[in-house]
Amino acid sequence: MEKKKIKSKSIFVFDAFGTLFKTSEIDTELQNIAKDKTENLISIWRKKQLEYTWLRNQMNKYAPFSQVTKEALDYSMRVNQLKNPRIFDLLLPIYNRPNLIDGVQETLDFFQEKTICILSNGTRSMLENGVQKTGIENIIDHLFSVDDLGIFKPRKEVYQMVLDKLEVSKNEVLFFSSNQWDVSGASNFGLTSVWVNRNNEVREGLPFGNVLEVQNLEELRHLLNIDKEVS
Ligand code: 2OP
Repeated sequence: MEKKKIKSKSIFVFDAFGTLFKTSEIDTELQNIAKDKTENLISIWRKKQLEYTWLRNQMNKYAPFSQVTKEALDYSMRVNQLKNPRIFDLLLPIYNRPNLIDGVQETLDFFQEKTICILSNGTRSMLENGVQKTGIENIIDHLFSVDDLGIFKPRKEVYQMVLDKLEVSKNEVLFFSSNQWDVSGASNFGLTSVWVNRNNEVREGLPFGNVLEVQNLEELRHLLNIDKEVS
């Protein structure tokens, strides 16, 4: 994808969890409780959290992300035979009191002339808490939660919601996510998408549209910055 094409887009839409907000901070208290099961606990939790959103989409059984996240954790605890309810207190707040991923603040500052939005499977209150906690509420122009629709990403109606609410066309939007299923969904819907592949993941065997892959948001900033200096 050409740099010019990216720069000409005025609406930058970011996924929240894993893209802007950290979801990977593991407390030492959790490690003391779950011990050698910690990794498996987290891994099954994350997998089921996603799986449940997709299955609920299929069944038209929407429930807020807070509920799905809790139900997935409850399942993972039972699989791992962990019963201590303190695990809920340690893990669930990650989604209400997240931290920013390194480099995100600088990138959002750099893009300040753009209209910056968040489009997330998270509930509105999760997103409001998140931008407040991380101090980016003044940088974010619009928060879009799937709660308003009662459907999760990657259903196309969710990406369409941004276009409808902002009254813009697909070609004005650049979509960012670290989650491949989300990049697949957005790019198939027709949004030019940036896959922020921080963990050097192998590309999934999914359909993709127009996708630019970067290792982190700074890389993209750098790319555009150099362009700025040259022009
Ligand atoms: C989101 O923020 C959960 O990463 C997903 O939409």
